[in-house]
Amino acid sequence: MPRTAIIAGNWKMHKSPEEAVAFVQELGPMVQAYDKVERVVAPTLLALGPVSAALAESALKVAAQDAHWEASGAYTSQVSATMVQPYVDYVIIGHSECRAYLNESDENVNRKAKACLACGLRPIIAVGESLAQNEAGETVDFVQSQVSAALAGIAADDMQRVVIAYEPIWAIGSGRSASGEQADAIIKSAVRDTIRALYSDAIADALRIQYGGSVKPGNMEEFMSQPNIDGALVGGASLQTRDFAALIEIAARVKGS
Ligand code: PGA
Repeated sequence: MPRTAIIAGNWKMHKSPEEAVAFVQELGPMVQAYDKVERVVAPTLLALGPVSAALAESALKVAAQDAHWEASGAYTSQVSATMVQPYVDYVIIGHSECRAYLNESDENVNRKAKACLACGLRPIIAVGESLAQNEAGETVDFVQSQVSAALAGIAADDMQRVVIAYEPIWAIGSGRSASGEQADAIIKSAVRDTIRALYSDAIADALRIQYGGSVKPGNMEEFMSQPNIDGALVGGASLQTRDFAALIEIAARVKGS
């Protein structure tokens, strides 16, 4: 079974609700033809309601950028998976910026992934090594450990709803990306083969894995041509409709299904 490519725009702390709605209204018709590619936008929390309402008749999907594992409680500033559930299909979990600035731990990534799955959402679990780890040759071991920790206790049946995004931290927002071949090799050995060992061949072969880190129209084809890369998690290049639509067009053309 071919894997459906998934391109997700992570808008981080960009775009007001009004700007986010205007963006998806412009983007929708530009990418309507590419319906074999899953197209996802991840606005700020504040824009989830308006964007989801604007996309009620659209095939574009919405992701939250984070969600807390408890349904409710004394967690000032947090919003739970059950609270975002009416507005989104996906939730990005464990983004390196959350790991770096908000002390996101592997344990909490795992709790959040389970909470999303429990309320019918699809987690996009982000993993990736730092420059120092990369240079020390620790990438595969480190990414394997992040993947295993994130999935601890997650049932095989739930794995069809999980997406993993491999994002080397040194490539995020830096203009410096891994080569397609490098990224593919790490994705295969540190992510897909880890899933193979933890679950089964069938689950590993069905798992969708994105690359992220300075993806842009000029290098998209290189990433999409790799056998183990099933899409992209995109920051900077998802903020302009023209660039984001170009990424989706390239994914649809290269993945060809
Ligand atoms: P970038 O961000 O495309 O701007 O490098 C990717 C991400 O953080 O998901």
